[in-house]
Amino acid sequence: MREFLRKVIGIDPEKCSPEYRVGYSGKRRTLDLSHNVILYLEDITVSFDGFTALNKLNLAIDAGELRCIIGPNGAGKTTMMDVITGKTRPDSGTAFFGQSIDLTHLSEPEIAHAGIGRKFQKPTIFEQHSVFENLELAMKTDKGAYTSLFAELGDDERDRIADTLRQIRLDTQAERPAGLLSHGQKQWLEIGMLLMQEPKLLLLDEPVAGMTDDETMRTAELFVSLAGKHSLVVVEHDMAFIKELGGKVSVLHEGSVLAEGDLDSVQNDQRVVEVYLGR
Ligand SMILES: Nc1ncnc2c1ncn2[C@@H]1O[C@H](COP(=O)(O)OP(=O)(O)OP(=O)(O)O)[C@@H](O)[C@H]1O
Ligand SMILES: [Mg+2]
Repeated sequence: MREFLRKVIGIDPEKCSPEYRVGYSGKRRTLDLSHNVILYLEDITVSFDGFTALNKLNLAIDAGELRCIIGPNGAGKTTMMDVITGKTRPDSGTAFFGQSIDLTHLSEPEIAHAGIGRKFQKPTIFEQHSVFENLELAMKTDKGAYTSLFAELGDDERDRIADTLRQIRLDTQAERPAGLLSHGQKQWLEIGMLLMQEPKLLLLDEPVAGMTDDETMRTAELFVSLAGKHSLVVVEHDMAFIKELGGKVSVLHEGSVLAEGDLDSVQNDQRVVEVYLGR
């Protein structure tokens, strides 16, 4: 458990201050979706030692939208996610979650708690624990009170875990140690762990890297099923996967949006062909 806390929410229960512990039991900030926009980036610029990774980037994601982000290596896709999650502070520009939550003034844990979940490429699952226990642990870290981590599960909580197991197609694997899952199944489990925290916006950076074609297509189905209730921003190089997702596509190039539209229209955009698809 201690290892879990340290790894997943970045705190050591023995060392963290009491204020920090109650921070997680605090009420969620209210997400104002009155204009139907869940994420709004305006003129975001990020430089690393004089190199401009993001250059006046503008992006708006609607509530419930499934947005795909493509673009060449080094275009700034991961840096954009770092800005949204508070890992990197922009030099200039604004980043809003809904109408009123200014992401540039929140810490990484505050942003996660506000409802933005991020999936990293390397899953942070607990291999020796069962699939069910992984989801249970992920749910409980969101409950705040440290003592509740050791409380018995209620019926509602069991139902939520069962629903999530079905959603990520691991309902027949619930009792298996997570370490025995396939690469693709481990990725789904980590997505399930994110879902247990009930994020409003999910950021997924190259989620199908290393998956089989079949796992890739199943992942597309999963993401399509999550859209609506959640908003998703998916970065990928796999065009068959992007096509299957069917969402609006933004093409990043040298830190800005070069083109935006459905996949067909951006694939036929001469500028996109030159910098990315034509390579
Ligand atoms: N912490 C950092 N320090 C210095 N340069 C960085 C840092 N993070 C990113 N960069 C540079 O910023 C640019 C954008 O990187 P980023 O990782 O955002 O690209 P990307 O679009 O995600 O590429 P890929 O498709 O290869 O994942 C790259 O040139 C990268 O080397
Ligand atoms: Mg990247």
